[in-house]
Amino acid sequence: MGKQEQYELVIKQAEALFSDESNTLANMSNLCSLLHHNFGFWWTGFYMIQDDQLVLGPFQGPVACTRIDKGKGVCGTAWAENQIQIVPNVHEFEGHIACSAESNSEIVLPIVQRGDVIGVLDIDSKEFDTFDQIDAENLQKLLALIWS
Ligand code: SME
Repeated sequence: MGKQEQYELVIKQAEALFSDESNTLANMSNLCSLLHHNFGFWWTGFYMIQDDQLVLGPFQGPVACTRIDKGKGVCGTAWAENQIQIVPNVHEFEGHIACSAESNSEIVLPIVQRGDVIGVLDIDSKEFDTFDQIDAENLQKLLALIWS
């Protein structure tokens, strides 16, 4: 199965899960699990803005750093620029925060509500060059199921 078809299945599962549940934290938690286990990512999780920092939220994978400043690392850059970051090789990203030495590529999507970034979805892969526009588009659709 191709990546696009896999995402379509995940979106169907997410729609089914979220249609009965309005609790944001519960849906964020299940979204991490859905993505992590369907795609075999290394780390899948949320950082949400609190007191002008990104603070670790629901995730799947190894223990991670808990706070990231605006503009720092891939996550803080996605926040500061309000732009999706696709990083084929994290070792070449200036200021990358290595929560785990095993991560080699990463995608970070800002979560925007009423024009403001309120957090990010961060996914790490052990492989290089894992993420592309297909991931960006489908992950955005999944985020829109929670923050519509
Ligand atoms: N690599 C991220 C930090 C978070 S961990 O990957 C879970 C960054 O550079 O912002």
